[in-house]
Amino acid sequence: MKQRRSEIILALDTDDIEEARNLAKLAQELVKIFKIGPILFISHGLKAMDVVKDGGGEIFLDLKLHDIPNTVKGGVKAACSLGVRMITLHLAGGIEMIKGAVDGAIEGSQKYGGIKPLLIGVTRLTSLSKERGLHDDVLRLSEVAAKSGIDGIVCSAQEVASVKQAYGDNLITVVPGIRLTKENKDDQARVATPEDAARAGADYIVVGRTVTRSSDPARALQHVVEGIENAQRS
Ligand code: C5P
Repeated sequence: MKQRRSEIILALDTDDIEEARNLAKLAQELVKIFKIGPILFISHGLKAMDVVKDGGGEIFLDLKLHDIPNTVKGGVKAACSLGVRMITLHLAGGIEMIKGAVDGAIEGSQKYGGIKPLLIGVTRLTSLSKERGLHDDVLRLSEVAAKSGIDGIVCSAQEVASVKQAYGDNLITVVPGIRLTKENKDDQARVATPEDAARAGADYIVVGRTVTRSSDPARALQHVVEGIENAQRS
């Protein structure tokens, strides 16, 4: 069976709201989901969300919640009032914390009458290098994610095929650490090209500085699309 085509998520990691607006505008034909993380969110709060919503995009709120269960539950519940499509939490927070997030999403969507955001668990950060046991850690945390009823996980392209093999469509895979060439890693360690990540089975490919710090962001984004299309063809 032909796998589903990977979808691009663009990370708007900037403290400059106009830059974020321009990037979202430039990408809106090719990208439907935009990731707002601590840099943009702490700089501009809810106004940062309008940058995405004004262009008809959806929001991936990447605040990587990691706290006691009651706090994470309350945070996820509150996020339901913002109409976000996805929200992240750290799977290392444990089963009770994850269950808190699940309960928060149910209660929040009931309270605010909105769609339940997809809960995405962070396994091991892609900035961590290939230390021993890391692959197994990702699989172990994926099992925790699947058992606790959240929607998906964040992992690197190196682990995505194993996660997909074990959990198939039961866990959405979100893959950051994307670079057009393998040399330019910045602070990332477990990197891959868009083509490799797509071929490995990533449902979503998170692209940040490869596009946003490029001298020609539109061209860089086009290269990401071409990589995904190549993977789809092969
Ligand atoms: O610029 P770059 O492509 O490295 O950005 C990757 C984005 O994905 C950043 O916004 C980062 O916070 C996020 N991310 C990550 N690794 C994870 C989870 C999220 O790099 N495990």
